Amino acid sequence: HIPVIRTLGQLRRWRKEARDKGLEVGVVPTMGALHEGHLNLVRTSLSRHPLTVMTLFVNPMQFAPHEDLSSYPRTFERDLSLLQSILPTPASPRQMPESPLVIFAPTPDVMYPLKGELQDLRSHKGVEVDVRGWGEVMEGASRPQFFKGVATVCTKLFNAVEPDHAYFGQKDIQQALLLRILVKDLLLSHPTPSSLHILPTTRSSTGLALSSRNAYLSPAELQVSPVLHKALSAAKGLYESPTTAEGKDITAEDLIAASTRVILDEQERILSVNEGVELQLDYIELFDRDTFEPLRGPIGAGREFVVAGAIWVGRTRLIDNLLIGWE
Ligand code: PAJ
Repeated sequence: HIPVIRTLGQLRRWRKEARDKGLEVGVVPTMGALHEGHLNLVRTSLSRHPLTVMTLFVNPMQFAPHEDLSSYPRTFERDLSLLQSILPTPASPRQMPESPLVIFAPTPDVMYPLKGELQDLRSHKGVEVDVRGWGEVMEGASRPQFFKGVATVCTKLFNAVEPDHAYFGQKDIQQALLLRILVKDLLLSHPTPSSLHILPTTRSSTGLALSSRNAYLSPAELQVSPVLHKALSAAKGLYESPTTAEGKDITAEDLIAASTRVILDEQERILSVNEGVELQLDYIELFDRDTFEPLRGPIGAGREFVVAGAIWVGRTRLIDNLLIGWE
């Protein structure tokens, strides 16, 4: 049985007890609708720290008005039993007097406590955390409000939980790197930039990155969706190929073209078999891991960057990325 904490008071009491006992706390922020990707983050935190908080909150501030806030999958009972299934079963109840895992699942008014704030999220009533310069590019260019919502809610979660360590997925690489910048720039101590960990993307056997939004995909759409990973892999493969390594001046445009080609080929194939699936490219870009500046022209040796992309499969938007030159 996993304790579910709903209020700030309960959470603060739990946190104080952990501190008094000298027990380290890891946090895994999520919006629920859990899959193996989330579970791997929780497993890692459980294996490294005596206590883990998985936060579960569908944050209204990071959804634009036209986005899927109301239809975002909410599967609380299923999430609970998935979490239950990854917990080590104690040999006897006495050996584990306290649950190593708790869930913090606040109601919206806990996370947005100012009067009228929730109704007014989009007219900027209340506090907004804006990681300027890093939040407007890449995913932020396609979704202008998104990173403000993420940065704001994560600041609140960090203040509420005061985690010693925090775990995020590479699947949302810009989010994770931007949160490191936030933690550094706001001089946060729980977590610190170096205790905010980024864990590898969990994929299905087809290469498709697991995502709560994959639940929106029809069987035919699911078949098409791995094309994004294939496209990004083509760029990484080209950069890491022997001819490139020999010093050929490969350009960012070459890599983007190789990647885009894979999407275009798949579009043609879909049209020819007439499966009724619609595939649209949103973007494929390379960006510097530290500045988030898009790469242009010759890349040169020793660059650490990310190839990232987004596609629309029918009405579902999928994102993915690969790290190049660093892990
Ligand atoms: P959510 O999409 O639920 O993701 C929660 C965490 O799981 C994020 O760190 C995300 O990167 C990670 N994750 C998702 N799919 C993954 C995969 N296939 N492999 C590895 N990790 C994966 O991201 C959010 O929620 C929200 O923006 C949040 C940070 C909770 C703020 O509201």
